Amino acid sequence: MNVYDLRGRVAVVTGGANGIGFHAAKRLLESGASVSLWDHSTERLGEAASSLRATERTIDVQVVDVSVYEQVEEAAARVSSAFGHIDILVNSAGISGPFARCDEYPLDAWDRQLAVNLTGVFYCCRAVLPYMLRNGYGRVVNLSSMSGKEGNPMSSGYSASKAGVIALTKTLGKEYATTGVIVNCITPALIDTPMHRASLQRMPEALMHSLKAKIPMNRVGTPDEVAKMIAWLVSEDCSFSTGAAFDLSGGRATY
Ligand SMILES: NC(=O)c1ccc[n+]([C@@H]2O[C@H](COP(=O)([O-])OP(=O)(O)OC[C@H]3O[C@@H](n4cnc5c(N)ncnc54)[C@H](O)[C@@H]3O)[C@@H](O)[C@H]2O)c1
Repeated sequence: MNVYDLRGRVAVVTGGANGIGFHAAKRLLESGASVSLWDHSTERLGEAASSLRATERTIDVQVVDVSVYEQVEEAAARVSSAFGHIDILVNSAGISGPFARCDEYPLDAWDRQLAVNLTGVFYCCRAVLPYMLRNGYGRVVNLSSMSGKEGNPMSSGYSASKAGVIALTKTLGKEYATTGVIVNCITPALIDTPMHRASLQRMPEALMHSLKAKIPMNRVGTPDEVAKMIAWLVSEDCSFSTGAAFDLSGGRATY
């Protein structure tokens, strides 16, 4: 494993109880960072924390629904007062939605997708950025998706929320470009996580087939492969890239 030196760094990882967030947290811990896992699932947070504690690094957990600003703001204040600073934010909390055409797309599902996948990222950035600006240093990584670049059929809420994450990332990259705070996003194709496996149960087979067929490497990615890219993006070695969307699609992306 290539290890970036994250000793002394404090990282917040939303959605850290599962999937990509969990693997990112593990990788950051292994690189020497202290990590605060934020998730709305108390049960999964407990399980994640006890499995990560085996690494004997500093780990903190916060039960947070990223779509509720007060919870986000309070969690950020608790992490800052416990650790003294916040250097890294990985926005991985997210939900997949129903698979339906726009004319039949449930209104409440649209609202929830936008609230968690897009507004949640904005809330976490808004609440955590002041702590980074205070120290003139920060690394933010937002989880977007290939669907945000291309628009996946039957997934208007999910695709639109992920397109919003790309635009938000580009905006923040420019706003903070001279402050020492770097903001980037990742646009993965299919990654083998609990979200992906749950989607397999609900997604029309033809749609899943077509999404897999678009990946030239002819396989889905692993959450560890996403964590590896995150580890570089949150390190000091990532110094001249901001407001960018990094591809992680086995060759699917054409731009
Ligand atoms: N798995 C994929 O194929 C894939 C592809 C592209 C992008 N992504 C994105 O990557 C991110 C992580 O996805 P994953 O596959 O690891 O999903 P996952 O379902 O495996 O994990 C997501 C975590 O987010 C948490 N979460 C959900 N809603 C929350 C909320 N309101 N507040 C706090 N926590 C909440 C869940 O409890 C869970 O622990 C998501 O943003 C997802 O959209 C995933």
